[in-house]
Amino acid sequence: KIVEWDQADFSRQEHEHYMLKEIIEQPKEIKKTLEGRLIDDRVHIPELESFLAEKTIDQYQKIDIVATGTAYHAGMVGKKVMESMLNLPVEVSISSEFRYEHGPLNEKNLVIFISQSGETADTLSALKEAKLHGSSTIAITNRQRSNLARKADCTICTNAGPELSVPATKAYTTQITVLLLLAIVLTEKTNGPGMDRIPEMIKELYNLPEEVEKTLIMTQDAIDQFAQVTEDQDNLFLIGRGLDYVLALEGALKLQEVAYLHADAYAAGEMKHGTMALITPGVPVIALSTQIHLRDKTINNIKEIKARDAFVVGVTTIGDDDISEIVDEVMYIPEVHPFLMPIIAAIPLQLLAYYAGTVRGYDVDRPRNLAKSLTVE
Ligand code: G6P
Repeated sequence: KIVEWDQADFSRQEHEHYMLKEIIEQPKEIKKTLEGRLIDDRVHIPELESFLAEKTIDQYQKIDIVATGTAYHAGMVGKKVMESMLNLPVEVSISSEFRYEHGPLNEKNLVIFISQSGETADTLSALKEAKLHGSSTIAITNRQRSNLARKADCTICTNAGPELSVPATKAYTTQITVLLLLAIVLTEKTNGPGMDRIPEMIKELYNLPEEVEKTLIMTQDAIDQFAQVTEDQDNLFLIGRGLDYVLALEGALKLQEVAYLHADAYAAGEMKHGTMALITPGVPVIALSTQIHLRDKTINNIKEIKARDAFVVGVTTIGDDDISEIVDEVMYIPEVHPFLMPIIAAIPLQLLAYYAGTVRGYDVDRPRNLAKSLTVE
């Protein structure tokens, strides 16, 4: 069934920019994404049920995820989560790469395409390529009437309402929400190794909108203040391990497109293989540490960077004093299941891009040289 958009969703309301409005409305939109898909202690995706009824899940030997821009970063989160819950290899590709070069592609591949608009030309061409090889296709999109939705075998809608600011914010968090639901269903259907994680994930998904709301309240003013220091900066680095590295990539993309700031993301353990040469006194570094099992390693990397006198802002979960002792500033965010942390931790990074863009005097809703939807190659 097609969910119609409320006309009120097209208004900026009291906000100066659509981008801020869309960041702030994420709890509400995530709630809509989850609506009807969490039933008691089960995940239910009706669109997927009819699709899987026609196919035998056992036929798949590999999952591919294909997308561009922010949707590609959501896909990277999906890859890491699915790979650790399913007994299947999962590869994530950029649409403009996948459409020309890809690994073996046939009826044994389940290919998931992610696109807010459902109209990105490269993603549509990649879909055509997958279909040509007989692969099964799932679209995750925010537009039920899009070309992607029409052409894929199965469409799961993010239900995030209209996203009018060019930089994607609520599209990203709702895409990850759908990917988590999908990971749970596919794990159950294949009896994957992640079965024992499902009850806790479902419990936390119910609380997710509330935790995102808490994150907004905890971080908005502090980020607004920190963003002022970016006014005269030329470079900024983001580091993290595992899902925090994926998050760093998305944070860097947001800062590039909205604040025209040269921001680079690195897997924290890679810094010493080259990038450390760029760390000079005072250079801002955002260190993400939301993945408990990687925390000690990230702390070591932060110490290496601090030894070069960088200005380090740590983003970590409430109560993590080990990090707060070694960084210059710390942003605390609520702790949820590690797989859900890329949603929670995206909030301060989106806010940072927004406030950095406004303090530097740019039109955050309409960044130069960029378009909301790239319908040409
Ligand atoms: C453009 C937008 C990005 C977006 C990307 C993918 O580059 O500026 O914000 O992430 O397209 O768009 P899609 O509609 O396919 O998710």
